[in-house]
Amino acid sequence: MPKEPILRLTGINKRFPGVYALKDISFAVYPGEVHALMGENGAGKSTLIKIISGALNADSGEYYLNEKKTEITGPKDAIEKKISVIYQELNLAKDLSVAENIFLGNLPTKSFGRIDYALLYEKASKILLEFGLNIDPKVTVKHLAVAQQQLVEIAKSIAKDPKIIIMDEPTSALSHNEIEALFGIIRMLKDRGTAIVYVSHKLDEVFAISQKVTVLRDGEFVGTCFINEIDEKKLISMMVGRPLSGTYTKEKSSIGDIIMEVENLSTDYVHDVSFSVKAGEIVGFSGLMGSGRTELCRAIFGLDRRKNGRISICGNELAKNSPEEAVRIGLGLVPENRKDDGIFPQLSVRANMTLVSLRVFSRMGRINPEKEYTSTEKIIESIKIKTPSQKQRIINLSGGNQQKVILARWLIESNRKVLIVDEPTRGIDIGAKAEIYAILNHLAFNGMSIIIMSSEMPEILSIADRIYVMKAGAINGYFNAYEVTQEDLLIAAT
Ligand SMILES: Nc1ncnc2c1ncn2[C@@H]1O[C@H](COP(=O)(O)OP(=O)(O)OP(=O)(O)O)[C@@H](O)[C@H]1O
Ligand SMILES: [Mg+2]
Repeated sequence: MPKEPILRLTGINKRFPGVYALKDISFAVYPGEVHALMGENGAGKSTLIKIISGALNADSGEYYLNEKKTEITGPKDAIEKKISVIYQELNLAKDLSVAENIFLGNLPTKSFGRIDYALLYEKASKILLEFGLNIDPKVTVKHLAVAQQQLVEIAKSIAKDPKIIIMDEPTSALSHNEIEALFGIIRMLKDRGTAIVYVSHKLDEVFAISQKVTVLRDGEFVGTCFINEIDEKKLISMMVGRPLSGTYTKEKSSIGDIIMEVENLSTDYVHDVSFSVKAGEIVGFSGLMGSGRTELCRAIFGLDRRKNGRISICGNELAKNSPEEAVRIGLGLVPENRKDDGIFPQLSVRANMTLVSLRVFSRMGRINPEKEYTSTEKIIESIKIKTPSQKQRIINLSGGNQQKVILARWLIESNRKVLIVDEPTRGIDIGAKAEIYAILNHLAFNGMSIIIMSSEMPEILSIADRIYVMKAGAINGYFNAYEVTQEDLLIAAT
C-alpha cells in the first residue's frame, strides 16, 4: 500500500438547519484502494461525498490532495483535479446518445465548432469496449434499461480519467450480471492506481470489493477498518451502534378466504400468469432482475395494456387498463421507482406521507390535524425516518429517508384490501429493513393481503407465506415459504 493518501480530509463539519450532518470527520483514501463508506440512512455519507466532489462546502475542516492542502471551489474544480463522482440519482441527458452523454462538456469538434460524430463514436466505443460494456454508443439513453443507464453513468465518469472516483450506491438498479461487470471495472481501475470510494448498504458487496471500510453514524466518525479484520456482525454493530437484535421473525397471521384472483394474465411483458392471494396472506414474487416482477405489478394495476386474462378482488372484476378502478376496488401499489413516481420535493415530509390517505384523517371533508400529526409521528418513529421535523421539506432528507417516507405513504392507509410493494427495502439501511417487514406483517395481521416483489431472496424468505418465482415474464415455480430454501428459489429463477 502506498504510504501517502491521495485524498485526506480532517476535521470536517457541516450543519444544515436543524441537522448536524457531519461532526469533525476525518477520512483518507490511498491510490489503488477501494474504500467503502457505510452507515445508516442519514448518517452523512452523501454529504461527505458532496464535500469531496465540490458540490457542497464544508463549514470547517481541511482538504488535502497528495498531502498538499487544497480547496475545491466547485464541481468543475473537482473534475479538473481528477475527482469524479457517480451520484445516487442518475444524471444523464436522456434525449442524447450514449456517446454524447459520456463526453458531455468535452465533445470532440471539427472546424467551426461542429461536433465530430465519427470521432465521438469511436472514442465512446473504445471506452465501452475497454471495460467490457456491451452498449451501442449511438443509441439514445432513454431507450436503455435503467441498469444500462447506470453503466453509462459509470462510463461517463471513467472517461474523465479520474484519479479518485466516488460511487454512491452504484448497484441499486443493477442485476447480478451488471454488478459483476461493475466489479470488473472497479478492479481494473484499482489496479491502475485509481482510488475508489464506494458507498453501499449491501454488506456482501462491501466484503467482495473493498479493502477498507469507514463507518459513519449520525454524522460522527465511528471507525476505519481493513475489511479482512472485521466480520459482518462487527460492521453492523459499528453502523447501528448496537448488535442488531437477530434477524426479523415473522408472526404468522391467520389466513382467510381468497381475496384476489389473477387468471391467465398477459401483456406484452407478462405471459399467462395465474395466482391468488388470501386475506392476511403475504405472497412473495422472487426472481432475477428483469424476470418480469415490475411488469407484473404494472399489468395488475392496469398500467400496461392487458392482452388477456382476468383479475378480481373480492369478486369485483377489475376492468382492463384502469389504474383508477384498481384503486377504487381496493388495490394499492408501491412502485419500484419510488422517486420518479411520486415525490413532491418542495412539500413537507408530512404532506408527502399523508397525501394519498387524507380521507383517513378527515371527517366530512375536514382534516383532523391532530390525527394526521400523530399518525405521521408514529410512522416516523417506527421506521426511524431521520428528519428534524414533520415539516422538513422531503428534498432535504437523505436518499434512504426519502424512500422511507414514500413507502410510509402506503403503509398508513388502512382501507386497502390488497397492497403490492415492489422492492420495498431498496436503498434502505439494514436497521430499518426489519421495521418495514414488521409493518407489512402488521398490515397482514389486520387482514390486508400483501404482494411483495423482491430480488433479495433472504427478504422474501423471511416475510412471505407463499412464494412464486418468475422467469422471463412467467411463473416458473411455486413454493410454501416455510419449507423452501434459497437454493430452491435460485434454481427456479434460472
Ligand atoms: N440540503 C439539506 N438540507 C437539510 N438537511 C440536509 C440536506 N442534505 C442532507 N441533509 C441532512 O443531513 C443528514 C445526512 O444526510 P446524507 O444525505 O448525507 O445521508 P446518507 O448517509 O447519504 O443517507 P442515505 O443512506 O439515506 O443516502 C440527514 O439527516 C439529512 O436529512
Ligand atoms: Mg445518500
